[in-house]
Amino acid sequence: MPGFSRIIGGAFMLNQQGFDSWAGEYDKTVREIDKKNQYPFAGYQKIVTAIYKRAVHPPQSRILDIGFGTGLLAGRLYEEGHDLTGVDFSNEMISIAKSKMPKAQLYEWDITNGLPPAVMNQSFDTIISTYALHHLTDAGKVSLIKQLLPLVKPGGQILIGDVAFQTHQELDQCRRNYIEVWDENEYYFVYEELAASLAEHCSCEFTPISHCGGVIELK
Ligand SMILES: C[S@@+](CC[C@H](N)C(=O)[O-])C[C@H]1O[C@@H](n2cnc3c(N)ncnc32)[C@H](O)[C@@H]1O
Repeated sequence: MPGFSRIIGGAFMLNQQGFDSWAGEYDKTVREIDKKNQYPFAGYQKIVTAIYKRAVHPPQSRILDIGFGTGLLAGRLYEEGHDLTGVDFSNEMISIAKSKMPKAQLYEWDITNGLPPAVMNQSFDTIISTYALHHLTDAGKVSLIKQLLPLVKPGGQILIGDVAFQTHQELDQCRRNYIEVWDENEYYFVYEELAASLAEHCSCEFTPISHCGGVIELK
């Protein structure tokens, strides 16, 4: 049931074509929903800014953005002089992002298939991903994160901003509050479960920022 697509004024699935259709209006929709402090984008600006502040150091670093969209965050880091690489499967999102970051390496790729081979042999100071990984199942997220961890340089980090909850109870409460628009096709982060799955692989920290979103930091 494409519940969330009703919030953004359509009745489409948020697959590749869905994101292509949404790309032109994406920035505006996100801003409006954040302003109303509503699921799923409540806290969006604060979350993106928190990640920006952590990713902006060290200067001129190598950054990978998974699901960069229109480049709202990646574009700011690019303007600061960072070397941007990105992966996204929406051609329309990529062309908007490309206009903001002409020299970035942007790969059209579906992350349900893992990472593109061209990215697998690179290393990055920081890997960021905002509001993209909830399109992967929980097992898919863990599998992708395990592919990303070896690409992080020593002292580097993975920063994820997304719809996220500390516990499953909090997720269930939010679902009940937004039952008419809740998207059953998306898999939101439950931090306790993610941290348990990654316990042997990295250290994790969660900073809740709104009633339905926050920042997860992996080192
Ligand atoms: C909600 S947007 C977030 C965009 C941006 N990161 C932001 O914070 O504004 C989700 C992005 O992830 C991309 N995406 C979703 N599923 C994907 C997949 N399976 N493979 C690659 N990209 C995907 C979409 O095309 C879209 O650009």
